Amino acid sequence: MRGFVVWLTGLPASGKTTIARKLEEKLRELGWDTEVLDGDELRKGLSQDLGFSKEDRLKHGRRVAYLAKMLAKHGVAVIVSLVSPYRAMRDYARSIIEKFIEVYVKCSVETCIQRDPKGLYKKAIQGEIKNFTGISDPYEEPENPEVIVDTENDTPEQCVQKILEKLTELKYV
Ligand SMILES: Nc1ncnc2c1ncn2[C@@H]1O[C@H](COP(=O)(O)OP(=O)(O)OP(=O)(O)O)[C@@H](O)[C@H]1O
Ligand SMILES: [Mg+2]
Repeated sequence: MRGFVVWLTGLPASGKTTIARKLEEKLRELGWDTEVLDGDELRKGLSQDLGFSKEDRLKHGRRVAYLAKMLAKHGVAVIVSLVSPYRAMRDYARSIIEKFIEVYVKCSVETCIQRDPKGLYKKAIQGEIKNFTGISDPYEEPENPEVIVDTENDTPEQCVQKILEKLTELKYV
């Protein structure tokens, strides 16, 4: 397997999509074929039949893991940006993908609420959205991620650099 999977997990608004796009840019510069599998986009297509119950979230995660595995098998550098709140789901992805790193995109829920780029925290706090991770649904922090990026204290560029260093160390790039 030449390709690999960078799995970004974290609260809504923690910075996953922002980091995924910047990391993709860097990997392209290095000559990689890339694919970003982003939760928001996949839910419009691949998983449009699924909601946000625990069962559906697990199902969604399993589909994304499978897709990521297939792409990596064909040499693609895959970046997954998915809340993926359940540890068991992320461990499943790890178990089926040969070259896999889990990146915890860390940010306090207070800061995420302040950022709230989509206005979803506001709605969740007002009770208009149910099963919202961080407010009314659990987020299980990674226990042994390969990388932790701190988006409250580091810039997106620094976060991307940290991920690239790990990929280099593991000889994935
Ligand atoms: N170091 C950082 N890394 C990433 N994003 C940051 C950082 N510092 C500030 N931000 C800001 O935080 C916001 C993160 O939004 P983003 O859409 O990337 O989050 P997300 O984790 O993809 O959320 P969602 O789960 O809802 O898709 C952006 O407005 C971004 O500019
Ligand atoms: Mg996002």
